[in-house]
Amino acid sequence: MGKSERKMKVLVVEDDTFSRQYMTSLVRLGDYEVIEARDGAEGLQMFESYAPDLIFSDISMPVMDGLEMLERIRRKSHDTIVVMTTAFGNPEFTLKALRLRANDYLVKPVIPKDIIANLKKYAAVLAARSVEREVVGFILERYLKLRLDNRLEMLGIVADRLMQETEGRILPADRMGVRLGLLEIIINAIEHGNLGITYCDKTQAIENKGYDMLDLVAQRMSQEPYGSRRVQIQFQMNAEMCEWVITDEGEGFDWKSVPDPSDPANLMCMHGRGILLARLNFDEVLFMGCGNQVILRKRLVVPG
Ligand SMILES: Nc1ncnc2c1ncn2[C@@H]1O[C@H](COP(=O)(O)OP(=O)(O)OP(=O)(O)O)[C@@H](O)[C@H]1O
Ligand SMILES: [Mg+2]
Repeated sequence: MGKSERKMKVLVVEDDTFSRQYMTSLVRLGDYEVIEARDGAEGLQMFESYAPDLIFSDISMPVMDGLEMLERIRRKSHDTIVVMTTAFGNPEFTLKALRLRANDYLVKPVIPKDIIANLKKYAAVLAARSVEREVVGFILERYLKLRLDNRLEMLGIVADRLMQETEGRILPADRMGVRLGLLEIIINAIEHGNLGITYCDKTQAIENKGYDMLDLVAQRMSQEPYGSRRVQIQFQMNAEMCEWVITDEGEGFDWKSVPDPSDPANLMCMHGRGILLARLNFDEVLFMGCGNQVILRKRLVVPG
C-alpha cells in the first residue's frame, strides 16, 4: 500500500491527562491513527516503535521535556512533522523549539476547529510527498512558472511539485521546513490575497460556531472579484540559491507592521504563524510593493 493510501499516524505527547485525552480525541475525530505518551522519554520510545508522521508535543513535562525529546528526534528524522503545543505565556520555549526545528506550534487551550484544519493541512502535505531522489548535481539552473486557481486542497501537491524542482539542492534537514514554509505563503496568497480574507475575518471564522474557514473560503470563491483571481509562482534555481516569487491579485497589506518574529511576545496570538514559520525556514523573506508579492530565498550550501 502506498504512503498516500494509509492513514496519517499521529503521536500525542502530553503529561496532563485531560489535555492528552482531549487532543487524542480530536485527532481520532479527523479519522487519523493516534497513540499517546505521557512524557518525553515515553514519546521518544514511541517515536522509535510507532514511527509517527506527525507529533504533537507539550514542552514542559517530567522525566524528559519536549525540547530534549525534539532534539533527540531531530538527530534521527527531519521528515517527521513536529508541532509543539504550548501553554499561553511560554513564548521563549516556543521560540527555542522552533529553532530546534519544530515545524509549527499551537497555543493552548487548543481550538478544535484549528486542530482539525491543521491536521488536514499536514495530511495533505504528507500524502502528496513523493520519494526524494538522491542528489543530482548536474542540473545547474532551473525555472518553473505556475499559475494557480484558489483551491487550497490542491496545495499539498503544489508544494510537492515545487520541492521536486529543488532536488538535491536543499539539505535534507531543511526540506520539510521549506516545504511547509512555501505552503504557508501560498495559503496566504490565496486566503488573504486573492480571497481578501482579513486577520479579523479569520479570527471570527475560527471562533464562530456553525461556520468556519471552509465556509468563508467557499463563499469568497463564488464571488467576484475574488473567485477569478490567480496566484503566480515563479521558481528559479541557480548556482547560489533557490528563489520563489509568489504573487497574488489581492490588495496587499501593511507588511511593515507584521510582528517581529524575534520577539517572543508575538508568538502567543492564535494565528499569525505563517510568516513567522517562513522567516525561520528561508534565508530571506521579502515583501514587495503593496505586499501582494513575496520573495523567498534559500541559499545553497556547498557540501564540505
Ligand atoms: N498575500 C497577502 N495578502 C494580504 N494580506 C496578507 C498576505 N499575507 C499575509 N497577509 C496578512 O498578514 C497576516 C499574517 O499572516 P500569517 O500567515 O503570519 O498569519 P495568518 O495567515 O493570519 O494565520 P496562520 O497562522 O493560519 O497562517 C495575515 O493575517 C494577513 O492579514
Ligand atoms: Mg497564514
